[in-house]
Amino acid sequence: MKKNKVYIETYGCQMNFADTEVVMGILKNKGYQITKDADDANVILLNTCSIRDNAEQRIYGRLGNLKKLKEVDSSKVIGILGCMAERLRKDLIEDKKMVDLVVGPDEYRRLPEFIDEAFAGEKGIGVKLSRTETYDDIIPFREDGLSAWISVMRGCDKFCTFCVVPYTRGRERSRSLESVVEEIETLSQKGFKEATLLGQNVNSYNDNGRDFADLLSAAASVDTSIRIRFTTSHPQDLSDKLLFTIAEHRNLCNYIHLPVQSGSNRILEGMNRTYTIEHYLDLIDRARRIIPGVSFSTDIISGFPTETYEDHIATLDVMQKVRYDGAYMFKYSPREGTKAFKIIDDVPEDVKAKRLSEIIDLQQRISYEINQEMIGKYEILLVEGFSRKSNDFLAGRTDTNKVAIFPAAEGITRGDYVKIKINRATSGTLFGNLIESVDIKGNPLTLTA
Ligand code: 5AD
Ligand code: SF4
Repeated sequence: MKKNKVYIETYGCQMNFADTEVVMGILKNKGYQITKDADDANVILLNTCSIRDNAEQRIYGRLGNLKKLKEVDSSKVIGILGCMAERLRKDLIEDKKMVDLVVGPDEYRRLPEFIDEAFAGEKGIGVKLSRTETYDDIIPFREDGLSAWISVMRGCDKFCTFCVVPYTRGRERSRSLESVVEEIETLSQKGFKEATLLGQNVNSYNDNGRDFADLLSAAASVDTSIRIRFTTSHPQDLSDKLLFTIAEHRNLCNYIHLPVQSGSNRILEGMNRTYTIEHYLDLIDRARRIIPGVSFSTDIISGFPTETYEDHIATLDVMQKVRYDGAYMFKYSPREGTKAFKIIDDVPEDVKAKRLSEIIDLQQRISYEINQEMIGKYEILLVEGFSRKSNDFLAGRTDTNKVAIFPAAEGITRGDYVKIKINRATSGTLFGNLIESVDIKGNPLTLTA
């Protein structure tokens, strides 16, 4: 019997989810079948994340479970892909003897080879990083759906001192603009309604002088009924040209994920973030002037080495000044090999936790207040399907990436745009009444006979 069933689990950032689709594309081309059942698989792969210690611990836990499957059937191959493969290759394969296969983010083309080696009883290891690999020509395997991730650049050259990404994903490199446009054309033909352009730092996209604004503009023009989103932006490279491009295209979403990390200039310098808070706030002001109604989310780290109470207050202060719609908030986690790892992790765990919980509480209050202000307003949603709790309600997202719920109505399904009037809100969800079916611009749909 051919051993060709592969099961993949994905952890971490959206880049990893996009990579899993590339991996599935590569494996399907070689005759592998994707299965959703680990018991049934000949090859079990975990696409992993190293960004914080707790991500890695979770994956080690899962590996422990999966090894039990291997005890039952020793012919199964278990492999690690992604950032942990890059960071912990020796530990995983030699010291702990936990897996048969370790393949980093730039070696997925050779995955079928490594799997064959593993089937033959050897250890398959591919962890070289590349300066050029973008998987430009690989057609990712996607189930038909509404939203797609498209990775447009890989790696990161920013070297924030806390971050392991430049070491696990290597140097920045961009896909060609044409290949991204072609991918969106295919998505459009398949009925997709949303594409998110991904990169660790999308604003440094550069395809022979064509920058991220050029890419966004080309992406938005493929099919004006497809919403285009992007993430993640670094404040250093968010140009006015880019802001004007977002303002100009209706289907470029008015939503920017702009990690601030800390509100203290001293800490920002220690993090090598290359901007000051004054520069950051000025950028937010400019974006709000150029793109009326734009919303922001951010990433924040509490307890970076040497962070004082005053630094922490400065973070709370910047949150109040910007009033983010949402935030991803983390305790600092020392990562071996990074510059910050050499500085003593001197903020005690309980202090980090307390500061983090103050940050989370404040963000919840701000999100709640912002959402309350939306009551009585109209919003256009892209309908994603039934709400998680009940089939009597449909859920969708606003242009600014907020989840909104409204009573299900006949004839309205996943993939439709609708206009709703908000009548209630929590910090995480808007609730509304359906007004009418519309197009992406909010124009009522006229029924044709
Ligand atoms: N500890 C805590 N948070 C981190 N991040 C990156 N590295 C670390 C770390 N060592 C956070 C940053 C980044 C997000 C993706 O993860 O806020 O923007
Ligand atoms: Fe890490 Fe900084 Fe690059 Fe983001 S910009 S991936 S935080 S090094």
